[in-house]
Amino acid sequence: MNAPLIQPLYDEVQHGTWSLLYGRQRENLTGKAAHLYLDALDQMSALTDAAIPRVDRMAEQLQATTGWSLAIVPGLIPVDDFFALLAQRQFCTSTWVRRRDQLDYLEEPDMFHDTFGHVPPLMNPEFALFMQRFGEIGVALRGNEQAVLALQRLYWFFVEFGFVEEQGVSKAFGAGIMSSYGETNHAWAQRLDLRKFTLDGVMSTPFTTTEIQTTYFLIQDIPEVIREMEAWHAGLS
Ligand SMILES: [Fe+2]
Repeated sequence: MNAPLIQPLYDEVQHGTWSLLYGRQRENLTGKAAHLYLDALDQMSALTDAAIPRVDRMAEQLQATTGWSLAIVPGLIPVDDFFALLAQRQFCTSTWVRRRDQLDYLEEPDMFHDTFGHVPPLMNPEFALFMQRFGEIGVALRGNEQAVLALQRLYWFFVEFGFVEEQGVSKAFGAGIMSSYGETNHAWAQRLDLRKFTLDGVMSTPFTTTEIQTTYFLIQDIPEVIREMEAWHAGLS
């Protein structure tokens, strides 16, 4: 049985910070973010600008659409635990929300990043399947440092900072972009200079978490990414 999804009590200032963050970023994303993301965000009635959302209610909505759920974690967790949760169709979120003087800079992901950025696309069956298969392959490759690094790069350049092509147009998608006002505008300015996604390309491109992104990949077809990832995994053994 899953642990209960209990959050701290938040005060009015914290709810106000959430509303400010959400409202400013939702407006900023119009025209820039993928429909894959935006349509799901607008569909999630448990995730709005009104107040800091309830994790249990978001989990219920995920359950009802793609069978995913959420787990509450204190912060960043070991990669093996992360893979294991994804394999069980659970995404993890922290429950702390940045202060108002931290609107645009964070050293570690907060609940706005974890939920506003990551939760909506889990309503999409293709993306949800990618995340589950990604987790299962991560579990299977436990201890294989080189392969785990390759998976982390795939996650970084797709789930965190990927663009997706929709009707021939490149749209921002990754959670690191969706949850950041500054990153959205920076990434959007690079949209004519994206690298075409290939599994080899992302898996051989290093990333750093401490500097602004200079490389973005354009994903054209999520089922194709799943097929390539599975073929890569099959070829390792
Ligand atoms: Fe993230």
